Amino acid sequence: MSIRTLDDLLAEGVSGRRVLVRADLNVPLDKQTGAISDDGRIRAVLPTLGALVEAGAKVVVCSHLGRPKGAPDPQFSLSPVAGRLGELLGAPVHFATDTVGESARSTVADLADGQVALLENLRFNAGETSKDEAERGAFADQLAAFGDAYVDDAFGAVHRKHASVFDVPARLPHVAGRLVLREVEVLSKLTGAPERPYVVVLGGSKVSDKLAVIEALLPTVDRLLIGGGMCFTFLKAQGLEVGTSLLEKDMVDTCRNLLERANGKILLPVDVVVADAFAPDAAHDTVRVDGIPSHRLGLDVGPETVAGFSAALSQAKTIFWNGPMGVFEMPAFAAGTRGIAEAITKADAFSVVGGGDSAAAVRALGLDESSFGHISTGGGASLEYLEGKTLPGIAALEN
Ligand code: 3PG
Ligand code: MG
Repeated sequence: MSIRTLDDLLAEGVSGRRVLVRADLNVPLDKQTGAISDDGRIRAVLPTLGALVEAGAKVVVCSHLGRPKGAPDPQFSLSPVAGRLGELLGAPVHFATDTVGESARSTVADLADGQVALLENLRFNAGETSKDEAERGAFADQLAAFGDAYVDDAFGAVHRKHASVFDVPARLPHVAGRLVLREVEVLSKLTGAPERPYVVVLGGSKVSDKLAVIEALLPTVDRLLIGGGMCFTFLKAQGLEVGTSLLEKDMVDTCRNLLERANGKILLPVDVVVADAFAPDAAHDTVRVDGIPSHRLGLDVGPETVAGFSAALSQAKTIFWNGPMGVFEMPAFAAGTRGIAEAITKADAFSVVGGGDSAAAVRALGLDESSFGHISTGGGASLEYLEGKTLPGIAALEN
């Protein structure tokens, strides 16, 4: 891999130089209060930012948050993230109230050596995500003007062909930050020669989001355990009735085809927790998958499923997990996700947790992060890496 790293940049000396860092500070916010509900992605970039601060760089951090539509939208402001980042760094973070406007220009110009600035949400600008090369390029020009060098530490966004990820590195000397490097190192172990048995657990709501990774993984994994909302489309493909559970009707045939080709590698739930409604206090029961009542919906996998999946995980030498098994945010439907997470920590295996949601679940359930081999900050990014796709952000660093 011909990627230059943060250490290469530090060796050149960065004291007094402006270093533009693309981070993925896209953290979950509490719907009611707007408070940061999981700061894992902020903590994940501290090694890179800390090293630059210590080396006396003027550090200009940029990120997206949520999916605003190319114009300022206060609910997606990075302002609370600037506060939290400052607490974690132990030094104030100078927040620019725009991304490339007057506030950003003066904030960057006023930085002293070893200080950190955070620009407002990149996606408040249409140029960030534009499909039009010229529009993206014009925005990248404005961003690149804030740095003498560029560090990509936004692993969660490397699968996006966006201005700050793909076009800025074409304009500045560029290196991979510590997080991006570690993520690629770990995930390349899974695509290389993983120690066997290699067991993958997939959850989350949609089969359509996971189809490409299932296709890519089927030939390489020893077992593929499927839970979460997407299991109901697979159950339907087996001829079962799934009540009012999440169902992607147009994916049923695809799931049937996958099951036929899987040679028994795919394990599906045998029992599920069904509820009267999608609500924390809804009445609920555990039923066999062939007994889901027509008026109820499945919101978690059941205890027998957890036991079966755990048995498969206990044999594994390599584990990758992406996607919760149920609606873990509601305590009544968290047991499946907790059970699987615990089984992963107990296995004598190298385990990788991929995905914003699964990583947040690990922390929300109070599990010990250090009992996993690696917790990726990338959801879509880690899946696309495992699919073997070219990631625009990584390709841009290679050039
Ligand atoms: C993520 O949360 O997966 C990353 O931050 C990328 O966000 P996006 O899916 O909105 O591009
Ligand atoms: Mg995403």
